[in-house]
Amino acid sequence: MPVLSVFNGKDFCCLLGMAGIYIHIPFCKSRCRYCDFYSTTMLGKREEYVRAVIDEAELRRHYLGGETVSTIYFGGGTPSLILAEDIRLILNRLRELFKVTGEAEITTEGNPGDLTKDYLCELHEAGVNRLSIGIQSFSDDKLRLLGRRHTGEEARRSVTRAREVGFNNISIDLIYGIPGESLQDWQEELRQAISLNIEHISTYCLTYEEGTRMTDMLKRGEICAVDDETENEMYAILVKTLSDSGFYRYEVSNFAKPHQHSHHNSAYWNGTKYLGLGAAAHSFDGKSRQWNKSDIDAYMREVEARNLQPEKEDLTDTDLYNERVMLGLRTAGGIDLGQLSAEEKKHCLHEANRFLTTGHLIIDRNRLTCTDKGINILNLITEYLMQ
Ligand SMILES: C[S@@+](CC[C@H](N)C(=O)[O-])C[C@H]1O[C@@H](n2cnc3c(N)ncnc32)[C@H](O)[C@@H]1O
Ligand code: SF4
Repeated sequence: MPVLSVFNGKDFCCLLGMAGIYIHIPFCKSRCRYCDFYSTTMLGKREEYVRAVIDEAELRRHYLGGETVSTIYFGGGTPSLILAEDIRLILNRLRELFKVTGEAEITTEGNPGDLTKDYLCELHEAGVNRLSIGIQSFSDDKLRLLGRRHTGEEARRSVTRAREVGFNNISIDLIYGIPGESLQDWQEELRQAISLNIEHISTYCLTYEEGTRMTDMLKRGEICAVDDETENEMYAILVKTLSDSGFYRYEVSNFAKPHQHSHHNSAYWNGTKYLGLGAAAHSFDGKSRQWNKSDIDAYMREVEARNLQPEKEDLTDTDLYNERVMLGLRTAGGIDLGQLSAEEKKHCLHEANRFLTTGHLIIDRNRLTCTDKGINILNLITEYLMQ
């Protein structure tokens, strides 16, 4: 069944002319063994950091060129380590500085261990209307191995509590391919996830990042990586199980109930402008990317001196085309052929032809999209279509 049969790209189109804001909260109580995202365990700096983020928003109030902001996303690190009152402060200031729509999707990531009923209530009252909970696994053994600070029971309870306080848009993160995990284990993880009746699931195949504890353990032979074939089977189980339960795959690793996809993440894949605030946050203005220092002290010093010095990469037309291909093919919205120049479209369709005739690609409403069959050879198709 083509992916487009459950998602016709319309939801992506409605994002055009809209922009997003990402706020990076780089604090973690402890570092998980697998993770190499930028964060610090020096929680004493949170208050000062929140002030710096608000100051940065003021400094960069013109970055989005007056475009309407339809999504705001607090990511981490662990956003649930800052006070709900601070989230409210940041949101209020963003509403003063930018044109934020009344129906904006406002997401906060949270760790199950932090999500008490009071905290969830305050977040909801502060205007957060979508929650992304870093569950990773429901198995205490696997959570211990990953170095997470919550249990399976806490994970389940955090979802129930969020529902009770009024969140009606809940996503969870799950990791598969954890050492020792069998196909049956993974099936059981999915069964538990589905039983929570959530709207959205983001999945991650465990990767061994250089410099992490997990990679050291692998090198020392203390753990054994799951082999590629098993990982592929786990992915196939994931797609089949979630699809049988009413989720649609709108991006290779992201699954949602109808119309409950993440607008913020879709904007990343769709070439929409976004402003990234905070240490290590990335921004995109349609032509270039820039990113703040991955060092909280250096970042705060630059903001205080009103002299932000982000790294910057200008994107050529070829870079932009290649990104459209790479990101578009991963999504159910596909590549919007209307956004390509005449020359790019000619190249794209010429290369796509061999995959159109074999049923790996389809064109629907001027969008070139991978079918389910095509997703299985996504890398090959992407290589052909890129310039
Ligand atoms: C950077 S985290 C932020 C969310 C939050 N801090 C948490 O841990 O719940 C975003 C997600 O990336 C995933 N992730 C991070 N490192 C990973 C790795 N090495 N392999 C697979 N997934 C990873 C985890 O599922 C995590 O929920
Ligand atoms: S996975 Fe999340 S909580 Fe764990 S170290 Fe990374 S950012 Fe922090």
